[in-house]
Amino acid sequence: MPAIFASAPGKAILFGEHAVVYGRPAIAVPVTQVQAKATVLADPLGPQGRVHIQAPEIQLDSDLADLPADDPLVLAVRGVQQALGADHLPALKLRISSTIPVAAGLGSGAAVSVAIVRALSAFLGHPLVDETVSALAYEVEKKHHGTPSGIDNTVVTYARPIYFVRDQPFEILQPAEAFTLVIADSGVRSPTRLAVAEVRQCWQADPDRYEALFDAIGQIAWQARQVITGGPPMALGPLMSENQRLLTQVGVSSAELDFLVETALQAGAAGAKLSGGGRGGNMIALAAPENAGRILTALQNAGAKRVIISTINPVTPDFKK
Ligand code: PMV
Repeated sequence: MPAIFASAPGKAILFGEHAVVYGRPAIAVPVTQVQAKATVLADPLGPQGRVHIQAPEIQLDSDLADLPADDPLVLAVRGVQQALGADHLPALKLRISSTIPVAAGLGSGAAVSVAIVRALSAFLGHPLVDETVSALAYEVEKKHHGTPSGIDNTVVTYARPIYFVRDQPFEILQPAEAFTLVIADSGVRSPTRLAVAEVRQCWQADPDRYEALFDAIGQIAWQARQVITGGPPMALGPLMSENQRLLTQVGVSSAELDFLVETALQAGAAGAKLSGGGRGGNMIALAAPENAGRILTALQNAGAKRVIISTINPVTPDFKK
């Protein structure tokens, strides 16, 4: 049986993080410069049912059976088995690698799950459709994020810009014109689960204030949707900065993120905000294409750990994932 390979991109949330957990709309885009990859190959020497997992970046080299039952990799494999009604697996090796930084708001967990689900289901002869791939990745996210909205697994599965409202069919956005993002990692690791839990505590303590903040963020995401699909994309800049101001009030920005946002604006960005769970992780800035390099250098000089320039393009009709 030939080895089967699948990949999934990283993602950035453009608008609406946190508010999306409370039913407001959000917009996310794929970041294809970073990827998670999974390869499944038969292990002719292994006993029936033995799944050996290697993920060198996290120093993992283990049999699936020796990992905790709630390990995300185990959950992804078991999810595929359940979806396919495959009680037993042939002996196989599963290799995972990823260039998506972990706990940085770039969707690394969802991308690893999606890559595993695609590679394993294809290896077993029944490649799962996107809807099922996304649903299985969501189940894994739930175990680790508490109350995920589902935006991460959706954007990573479909690898297209999406307008997302929890528990509703999502919408793929076709950008009117390309736009360029500069994405910078603050270097501060911040698990989304903790940020989401803290926001929930604040919301419980003062629901009126937080509902009003989420409403305002939702309005911005709605306006941004019109700008992305109708143009001009540079009009997203002020909306991003306004979203950042509201996220600061929600309490999920940090000194490091504020500094990088300010640095990007000083270097000519049209707007900038944190992206994802916040408290650390990444920020994104909107750049005129000719300015992106300058903003990247300014962010690197300001101490950003890793800076990516990513262009979100309108999709041509012959687009293939
Ligand atoms: O940290 P990330 O990129 O996984 O972002 C999660 C976005 C939140 O809105 C904070 C949580 C969620 O589940 O939507």
